[in-house]
Amino acid sequence: MNKLNHVAIIMDGNGRWANLKEKKRIFGHEKGADTVRSITIHASKLNLPYLTLYAFSTENWKRPKLEVDFLMNLLSKYLKNELKTYLENNVRFNIIGDISKFSSSLQETIMKTVKNTEHCSGLTQTLAVNYGSKDEITRAVNQLIKGGKDKITSADIESALDTKDIPPVDILIRTGGEKRLSNFLLWQCAYSELFFTDTLWPDFSAKEFDNIIEEYRHIKRKFGGI
Ligand code: FPP
Repeated sequence: MNKLNHVAIIMDGNGRWANLKEKKRIFGHEKGADTVRSITIHASKLNLPYLTLYAFSTENWKRPKLEVDFLMNLLSKYLKNELKTYLENNVRFNIIGDISKFSSSLQETIMKTVKNTEHCSGLTQTLAVNYGSKDEITRAVNQLIKGGKDKITSADIESALDTKDIPPVDILIRTGGEKRLSNFLLWQCAYSELFFTDTLWPDFSAKEFDNIIEEYRHIKRKFGGI
């Protein structure tokens, strides 16, 4: 049976979920935030060490300003309202991505949540915000060059990635029916098991999460060997 350290999720399908109900897309994002809460609590109860969620990509700035603003406010509201949930469930909050592009008040809320949960020893929930793998790897390489490196090893790059303290991804899940990685954890998913489901993120359930884990447990992972 495979050991499980890290599940990462591309949470797709909020907009379509709302459209199917003849509601505005933002209603889907609100529902999506509820699923973030329920899956995080469930993962912490399963004693999963790491859960990483793709909440806003470096490409999502292309969306209409109203939707971008809504997502920023939703994130801020979520972090403020859910501090209690993090603490009650012993969940440590972590962030990856370039948050320097966010408003100073959102950056402050993010850093406060990191600080207020840093003593938690259960699940580490990482939100990927203004995150893109290409951006992350480019920032890492530039940091190494700045540090005076002229020859860069793969271990050097790993130590400079936003995920330097997080193990590689074992399971990558994408909801919403598309089968692509969308610039998410490309380095960290080198040997991940990939799961694609048609379920739209607001409908993604603990039961489906459990079924994926069960399937993963029985996969023969070879990491390039035989
Ligand atoms: C992808 O496409 C989803 C997003 C860009 C946002 C994800 C946000 C959430 C799950 C909610 C907020 C999260 C937190 C942590 C508070 P889409 O959902 O817009 O879907 P579409 O492909 O149906 O248009």
